[in-house]
Amino acid sequence: MIFLTGAAGFIGANFVHHWLGTQTEPVLVLDALTYAGNLESLASVQGDARYAFAHVDIGDRPAVAALLAAHRPRAILHFAAESHVDRSIHGPGDFIRTNVQGTFELLEATRAYWAALPAGDQAAFRFLHVSTDEVYGSLGTEDPAFTETTPYAPNSPYSASKAASDHLVRAWHHTYGLPVLTTNCSNNYGPYQFPEKLIPLMIHNALAGKPLPVYGDGQNVRDWLYVEDHCRAIARVLDAGALGETYNVGGHNEVKNLDVVHTLCDLLDRLRPRTDGQSYRRQIAFVADRPGHDRRYAIDADKIARELGWTPQETFTTGLARTVQWYLDHAEWVEHVTSGAYRQWVGQQYGAVAAVQA
Ligand code: NAD
Ligand code: DAU
Repeated sequence: MIFLTGAAGFIGANFVHHWLGTQTEPVLVLDALTYAGNLESLASVQGDARYAFAHVDIGDRPAVAALLAAHRPRAILHFAAESHVDRSIHGPGDFIRTNVQGTFELLEATRAYWAALPAGDQAAFRFLHVSTDEVYGSLGTEDPAFTETTPYAPNSPYSASKAASDHLVRAWHHTYGLPVLTTNCSNNYGPYQFPEKLIPLMIHNALAGKPLPVYGDGQNVRDWLYVEDHCRAIARVLDAGALGETYNVGGHNEVKNLDVVHTLCDLLDRLRPRTDGQSYRRQIAFVADRPGHDRRYAIDADKIARELGWTPQETFTTGLARTVQWYLDHAEWVEHVTSGAYRQWVGQQYGAVAAVQA
């Protein structure tokens, strides 16, 4: 089986669905269920015998060690993190605790487990660290895209904490020989994304008749990748990535924030028109910029294409249309997040959780 940390969150939950839809191997999700962890995103796999959940903080080394000893995974995919840049500006402490200290504790628990494995299992074991393009800093308009050798230059507490975690993972490979892989991916979008990130926030606010808050001049550029393409990339790196290597993952899809918002408005105008016949664009409101706002990210994903044969399957047009339709079809999921009701799901599900906590 494989362990997935943080897979009650956006990308991890999508990974669970992707994995169980394409593989037979069981998964154990390890998640602390912070505000970003939502077991409703995993509700459809609750009855699947290949899925189990453990309510655990990655910083709790003894608890993680006990799970490793009990379940003996052949790989750990490390999604768990504090992930929202704006939250990191208001409260960086949680980012240091989870992304830096938590990754350290997880690495140490993993190292002890891995070191005691029989030689064959040790050689086959993998620790895959899921990271971000934000560790490379900000690009000017004409700069070439980030490659795996671009120097690290993180600018926010979030990206600094992720950069630190990348360095720890790298060091545990070089010093202790832990068989690690790292992926650095661009902005994801798709189902189950917490509606405080740009795309789900805009969809939610538009439908709720609220302003669509665009930071600064709206000209910041992000490289958008449909989340299932990211999941395919992670599965491919786990399968065939070279030990100690990093792989950039991106959509070859740079878009200015204001253009993202315009496209979303146009899609909603078609799929769920406003009752007054006006465009959702009328709700756009320019607001104060994010402090230290990175201007542009762009990923050069040639290495993973060349060496592992991965390229994105979804275009921004098809991926965004699917995403908007998903949010329209899953109004209850969004409502439970925005009302806070999704937290009660944890209570309802504690029978299953306790069963795995051993
Ligand atoms: P998310 O915020 O949606 O989910 C994070 C998950 O981690 C939640 O389920 C949360 O409960 C869990 N978690 C947080 N602290 C924990 C702890 N101490 N112990 C155990 N679980 C904990 O994040 P996401 O957008 O799904 O991102 C997943 C990973 O991918 C992160 O490492 C992030 O840095 C990286 N990433 C995200 C993007 C993106 O666009 N969202 C892009 C590239 C990389
Ligand atoms: O690049 C990968 C990163 O992408 C991940 O590592 C992060 O975990 C993920 O949250 C995301 O970070 P961003 O800061 O780029 O995502 P966010 O959705 O918060 O913002 C996207 C862009 O939209 C950014 O330029 C800020 C802008 N924005 C965001 C919000 C929430 C707005 O203009 N208005 C908003 O209300």
